[in-house]
Order: sequence, then structure tokens, then C-alpha cells
Amino acid sequence: MTISEINEEDRQWEGPCSQLMQNSFIFQAKIAEQVPKVINGNGIRITVENPENGKITDVIDGMTGAAVGSLGWGDPEVVEIINRAARNTFYSYPAILGNEYSEELAKFYISNSPPNAFAAALWTLSGSEANENELKIIRQYHVEKGNFNKTKFISRKTSYHGFTLGALSISSNARAEMFQEILLPQNQCLKMEACYPYRNKADNETLVQYSDRLLLELEMMILKEDPKTIGAVILETLPGTSLGTSPPTPGYLLGIRKLCTKYDILFMLDEVMCGTGRANPNGGLNCWENYLSPEEGPDIQSVGKTLGSGYVTIAGVLLSPKVRNVFIEGSGSILGSHTYSCHAFNCFVALEIQKRVKKLKLTENIFKMGNYMGELLIEKLVDTAIVGDIRGLGGFWSLELVKNSQTKEIFPLSSNMAYRLQDKCFENGLNIMGTQGCANGSGDIILLAPAFIVTKDDIEAIVHIVYMSIKDLEQELMDEGIL
Ligand SMILES: Cc1ncc(COP(=O)(O)O)c(C=O)c1O
Repeated sequence: MTISEINEEDRQWEGPCSQLMQNSFIFQAKIAEQVPKVINGNGIRITVENPENGKITDVIDGMTGAAVGSLGWGDPEVVEIINRAARNTFYSYPAILGNEYSEELAKFYISNSPPNAFAAALWTLSGSEANENELKIIRQYHVEKGNFNKTKFISRKTSYHGFTLGALSISSNARAEMFQEILLPQNQCLKMEACYPYRNKADNETLVQYSDRLLLELEMMILKEDPKTIGAVILETLPGTSLGTSPPTPGYLLGIRKLCTKYDILFMLDEVMCGTGRANPNGGLNCWENYLSPEEGPDIQSVGKTLGSGYVTIAGVLLSPKVRNVFIEGSGSILGSHTYSCHAFNCFVALEIQKRVKKLKLTENIFKMGNYMGELLIEKLVDTAIVGDIRGLGGFWSLELVKNSQTKEIFPLSSNMAYRLQDKCFENGLNIMGTQGCANGSGDIILLAPAFIVTKDDIEAIVHIVYMSIKDLEQELMDEGIL
């Protein structure tokens, strides 16, 4: 029975809704109208229904929503997993009771990370909630140690850590700007420069010199503010929706790690979008393993998205032994508990999904296929006019669109170029994500993050559609006199 058949049979419950002259009852995105709906998913493809004209379109999902997909859509094994989870799990209120599956999922993540990188986890429902919890954990960590003045956070310009108020306070983009007046004070949430060599590295600088400059600026900021007041340095290992997937330059992450150790500041990585297998070089989970050895890892880390692969709402906080020990030797407890934290059903499903991803060696696959996608994008898009930069790692890539690739001139924000390309790709059979704001609030990027199951043929199809769509858009721009 399909959803529309159920609705046909069972309209009584609608009541007063049927009299309201509204197209949509969902307060999300475009409030007055219904947005296109996903009505089916199969492997790397989704089927989308346009609510205005009922048109059904079947497309490749090149972005798995917001980079959530590891297993493909409609995986029959996941249906079995969910079935077992429904039969075997029972709700436990986390402040008082626990469950086996949250423990098992924590053990799985810790065991599949480098030795001694992590020692404990807290499972939340979203990446924003994970980051929100981390800000409080960081605060309590310093209080447990008697460092009461460590109340400031340093994160980065052009960053995104979620839509709750704490997460927005450490973010820096148009999404955060609108709410500035109700966020944590900005003199408490300092912003260092992003690591963005495409625009910010000087021509006469090497990548290493660029890293050194950023690190020097960070150290100056720490000293100016007083290291005794800084609680954490926070960054996305591989950024996503704000900056596009600009990988850290050589020595950059290690330099931040060292500064944090030097000044007793916690080093926090946000791997909500880039982690949990999307860009790991060893068939593992963490993106930072590309750049840091096990003993140089973060003190605290957020994860999400592919943890539940879009089937359940789950994200989490991972704690290093160092952080856990301070709590163990201190108060022995952590303040705060959400009703649905460490939810047994979600943890059961996520654990089985992760085991399946591991058994099928899908993190190896996406690292290989994703890097192949990057190479192919660089090769095929060489004769396009509006692609200024192609950047990324493993299964997470982005293109920065420019009006002039020599001068790197951006399109006016109002031309919505990222969204125009997103629509073009959709028309041509590919779902991707367009965003704006990478270059000081302006600038257009499109993002690609397919499911971990992608094959070589799928990658070639994705790159082909991106290429065709860019060419279509360029033709339109020429016709409009913009190019
Ligand atoms: C790096 C990063 N952190 C946090 C979040 C917030 O996660 P969620 O949307 O699950 O709250 C996102 C979402 O895109 C993200 O990309």
C-alpha cells in the first residue's frame, strides 16, 4: 500500500486541515509551498515527485541528501536490521538507565579508530546537538580541572557547525549572521581565518608557508586573548557547506594540535559531514587520519550523517582518554541528558549499518571511487569556463563557480549560480547540493557526496552529468550576456 493509497482511504482524521487554504503544513524551507518529495530510493538513485504538477523524476543521488548516505537507499538488509531493532530494543531514559546497543556502538567506533584515540561516546540525534553538547563538555572539563576562566572558543570564519544557538555561535556564515543578536557573545566565540588556499594563499607563498602563517595568526590570537581564557579550538577537518571541501594544507592540523597542547586548550574536530568513513584512507572512520597520527588526534570530536546512513537520526560525541580521565578523576559525571540520547533503537540500527559498511569494505570503496571522481572532475572540466576550483578528498568534493577563472571573480550573490547549477543537474538526472558564501559571504559552490556503494560506472555517469549541466548553464549565461 502506498502513502497516497493510505491517504485516500483514511481522510477522516484531516478535520479542520481540509478547510485551511494552505498548500503545506510543514514549517521548513519554503513554508507556503510543498517542496519536491522523495517517494522512492533504490541504491544510488532516488525518485522525486514534484507536488505542483505530479511529475515523477528518477535521478542519481550525487549528494545523498546532505552527505548522509553510506549504504544505498532501500537496502533490503537494512529493512531486516530495522525489523530486528523494533523487536529487540526498548526505551531507556539516559539520565537513569542505559542500554546494551549504545555501549556496543561506542565500542565499535572506538575499536575502529586508531588505538587510544577515543575512550567514550555520547550518542545524540543530530550533529548540531552533538556540537551543542561538546561546548558544554569542554566547559565542564576545564571546570573539573579548576580552570574556571577558560570560557572562550576559537572556531573559523566561513564555517558551519549546526543550527542550534550554541552551534551557530561557533559557526560563521549567513546562517549565523541573521541570529547574531541572540547567540553567545562574539568576544567569547572568536573566529580565526579559514584554511582556504584557493583564495587566501599569496602567490609567493608555498602551501607550507601558508599553513605557518595561519598558525602564527592563531597563536597571536591565543596570546592576545590570554591562553588561560581559551577553552577549545574548533574546526571541521574537511569543511562542507560553508567553504566547500577545502582540505587542510600541509602541517596545518598538526600545528593546531601542537598549539592546543602547548596552551592546555582542547582540540575539537567536527567530522559530522566528512567523517564516519566518507574520507578515511585506511578503511576506517575518521577523516583526520589522513593528516594526523593516532597520538595527534583530537581531544573531542563530533560525528553524524553517515553513522545512520539516512535510515535513523543519530550523531555523536567522541571523547579522548585524556578528556574522559579528567571527568573520572573529577566529579565522575557529566551534566545534561536529552530524552532521546543514546536511543537504543537508533544505536542498534547504526551499529548494524556500520558493521555492514565494514563487512562490505565500503569505506575503502568510497575513498577510492571518490578520489577517482575528483580526478575525473579535474580532467573533464578543464574546458569549462565557470569552474574556478575543484577540491575535496575521498567521497566528498566541491566545485567553486566563478565568473572568470583567471581573476577568480565571483558571480553576484543575487544570480544564485550555485542553485542554477543544482537545478540544471537535477533536470539532467543528478541530485547535488548548491550553497553560497564561501568567499566572504559571496561565492558559489556545489557539493558532491554519493553513497559509499558507488561504482566506477556511477562515478563516470555523475561526472558526465555535472559536465553537461555546466555546459548547458554556460550556454545560458552566454545567451544572457553574463559570460
Ligand atoms: C560540519 C557540520 N557540523 C554540524 C552539522 C549539523 O548537523 P545536523 O544538521 O545533523 O544538526 C552539519 C550539517 O550539515 C555539518 O556539516
